[in-house]
Amino acid sequence: MTDPTATVLDARFTAQAATLVQLPPPVSVEIAFAGRSNVGKSSLLNSLMNRRNLARTSSTPGCTRGITFFEVKTRDASLFTLVDLPGYGYAQRSKSEKIGWGHLIDGYLTTRPGLLACALLVDARRGIEDDDLGVLELLTKGARTRKAPTPVVIATKLDKVPRPQRQKLLKEIAPNGLRAVGFSTELPETTELVWRSLRAAMV
Ligand code: GTP
Ligand code: MG
Repeated sequence: MTDPTATVLDARFTAQAATLVQLPPPVSVEIAFAGRSNVGKSSLLNSLMNRRNLARTSSTPGCTRGITFFEVKTRDASLFTLVDLPGYGYAQRSKSEKIGWGHLIDGYLTTRPGLLACALLVDARRGIEDDDLGVLELLTKGARTRKAPTPVVIATKLDKVPRPQRQKLLKEIAPNGLRAVGFSTELPETTELVWRSLRAAMV
């Protein structure tokens, strides 16, 4: 049951920004990927782009530094920019680094033109925590002239949850009636389901 319109033709790294002034000019609609360190943001991006390690991943938290932009062309000639955000909640970062990156994520999420959707990744076994709720709240802030980016809650590492518990967990994990979509790098069919939710969030 694949959706041919979601098939990626081409994906490439376009830019990395460590500060707000370094953000590249927006060239297409954007989808950002936010979540705690190590939750699986870069791994999900690689699955969505159908590339093994275009976004750098690591078993050590704190791998993605700065905001990383990837441009993706799909078979139906859509152009998307997928945006890998640094993870939050990583205790080993220095205090100044935490403040700087908090400022960077806040600034990006509240001001970026063309940011239509924001995927909020939560570990399926941990559920939503305070920092995650903070991201959902941020999305509703920002310029009044801008349409608030649509949140898409994604429960990651679903392979770690016993199969019979998965559907119930997806129903209960997201707040305010949002329904979560499940993802695992170990369950290839989930990539297409995530693509569908993201596309639906952008219309
Ligand atoms: P930061 O860049 O530090 O914020 O982390 P991240 O959210 O980008 O996480 P990353 O994709 O680097 O993955 C962290 C670790 O989790 C790596 O060791 C991945 O192999 C592992 N991982 C990611 N997704 C899955 C999954 O679906 N299942 C399992 N079992 N492991 C996963
Ligand atoms: Mg990462």
